[in-house]
Amino acid sequence: MEMRPLGSTGIAVSLLGLGTVKFGRNEGVKYPRGFDLPDDKAVVALLEQARVLGINLLDTAPAYGSSEERIGALLPGRREDWVIVTKAGEDFQAGRSSFDFSPAAIRASVERSLRRLRTDYLDAVLLHSDGIGEDGDRFLPAAEALAGLKGQGKLRATGFSGKTVAGALKLLSCVDVLMVTYNPGQRDEAAVVAAAAQAGKGILVKKALASGHVADPARALAEAAALPGVSSIVVGTLSADNLRRNAEAVAGADGRGEGHG
Ligand SMILES: NC(=O)c1ccc[n+]([C@@H]2O[C@H](COP(=O)([O-])OP(=O)(O)OC[C@H]3O[C@@H](n4cnc5c(N)ncnc54)[C@H](OP(=O)(O)O)[C@@H]3O)[C@@H](O)[C@H]2O)c1
Repeated sequence: MEMRPLGSTGIAVSLLGLGTVKFGRNEGVKYPRGFDLPDDKAVVALLEQARVLGINLLDTAPAYGSSEERIGALLPGRREDWVIVTKAGEDFQAGRSSFDFSPAAIRASVERSLRRLRTDYLDAVLLHSDGIGEDGDRFLPAAEALAGLKGQGKLRATGFSGKTVAGALKLLSCVDVLMVTYNPGQRDEAAVVAAAAQAGKGILVKKALASGHVADPARALAEAAALPGVSSIVVGTLSADNLRRNAEAVAGADGRGEGHG
C-alpha cells in the first residue's frame, strides 16, 4: 500500500483509508441497499484485513452512531500504528442529526471522542459541516477551538469536512486537513484539492464511489488517486472482497495516471 504525507502534519497515511459509517449507523444513510450493522467479529475481521493490506487510516465521527465506541473497543494492534480521524460538530441520536459548532461543544465533543475511542490523542479532528454558511465566518471559532486542543496535545491535526468549494477555500488557511467529495459525478472540488495541495494541506477524499452508486469503482478510485495532492481516499465498506478490490484499484493507479505525488 502506498503511503502519502498528510500535508504538512508529519503524519503518513495509506492511500486507501477505511470509512466506518457502516460500523455504527444504518439509518438516514444514502447507500443503494439497507444493511444490518456488523457484529463485533465482523468488525475485527475487517480491521485486521485492513491492517494486513497496509491501511492505517480509519475515518469515524460522533455522527456515525456507535462507530467510535466500536473502534475504541475492537481496534487490533497498537494504537500508534493507526491514524484515527474523527469529527466534531454533528451528532446523530434517535435517528436524527443535530449540529453545534460553538467552541464549548467542539471541546466537549473531542473529550467524548477521546473517551469513546479509548485513546489519549486523536490524529485529526475535522469539523463535520452541515453545509450552511460555509463561506462566511460561522466555522472560524470552531476551527480556533480545534487549534487550541491541538496545542494541548489532544489532537495532532485540525480539519474541515465541508459540502461546498467556497467553504473549503474559506477554511483552507485555518486548518491542517480538508476532506472533499470527489467522484465521476461530482468533480467540482478538484479546485479545492489543487489549492490545498499548493498550501501544503492534507487532503482526504470522501464519497469517491458516490456512496456505492458509481458504475466502475476501480476506475473512480484510480481517478481520485491520480489527483495531485490527494493524501488518502476514504472508502466505506463492510465487504472483505470490496476492501481487497479497492486496495488493488489504488495500487493499480500507481504511476498510471496524471502524475500525482
Ligand atoms: N465528512 C463527511 O461529511 C462524510 C460524509 C460522507 C462520508 N464520509 C466518510 O467517507 C466514507 C465513505 O463515504 P461513503 O460511505 O458515503 O461512500 P463511498 O466510500 O463512496 O461508498 C461506500 C459504499 O460503496 C460500497 N463499495 C465499497 N467498495 C465497493 C466496490 N469495490 N464495489 C462496489 N461497491 C463498493 C460500499 O458497500 P459494501 O459495504 O457493500 O462494500 C458502501 O455502501 C465514510 O465511511 C465516511 O468515513 C464523510
